[in-house]
Amino acid sequence: MYLSIDIPIFRGIIKLMKYVLTFVLLMTLGYSYSLYKTSAPKEVPYPEGFRYWTHIKTAIIKNKKIPQHGFHHIYANTLAMKGYKEGKFPEGSVIVFDVLQDTTNSRGDVEEGMRRLTDVMVKNHSYDSTGGWGFEEFKGDSKLERAVMSSSVKKCFNCHATKKDNDFVFSTFRN
Ligand code: HEC
Repeated sequence: MYLSIDIPIFRGIIKLMKYVLTFVLLMTLGYSYSLYKTSAPKEVPYPEGFRYWTHIKTAIIKNKKIPQHGFHHIYANTLAMKGYKEGKFPEGSVIVFDVLQDTTNSRGDVEEGMRRLTDVMVKNHSYDSTGGWGFEEFKGDSKLERAVMSSSVKKCFNCHATKKDNDFVFSTFRN
């Protein structure tokens, strides 16, 4: 008898608990999703140690009007090598475009000069508005001074977008 009097109150409490639990569950799911979406650093990290990675190719751009003029050597980390072989670059792929001055010595040979800049592409889902790639340019020899930041669409992606069928990558690997 005593219990039956209290039941409506219990029902009310249980109902309230259900709302609270549903709310907490939804908040947790929403928060986890936002964490997943922002788990990667939005800022492209400096590619530490890239000179020890796989060399893809080298070229010299002679036209001084092109910002990347001079020597460029392209390097890929292990994950990016999978992309060069299979055409689709996995999360964590990093490709570096290392730009150096081209100088001519007294014998007329073309040699590497000072580093002009370092361009980087990083594959991560947080950059889905630019094909899944984060773009950045480090000035000169600096690991800190950035030239692109939030203007990657204008400065980099608009041109790389023409290579959509190759996962936005221009270069290819030769044996
Ligand atoms: C006008 C077109 C154009 C723009 C703008 C451009 N790139 Fe590229 N990028 C290229 C081409 C072409 C290559 C391939 C060069 C080669 O094969 O020697 C390349 C190569 C690269 C590579 C090596 C991977 C690949 O795609 O072959 C990286 C990394 C890269 N660019 C980063 C950048 C960054 C960062 C920016 C912005 C600061 C940028 N690029 C802007 C045309 C462009």
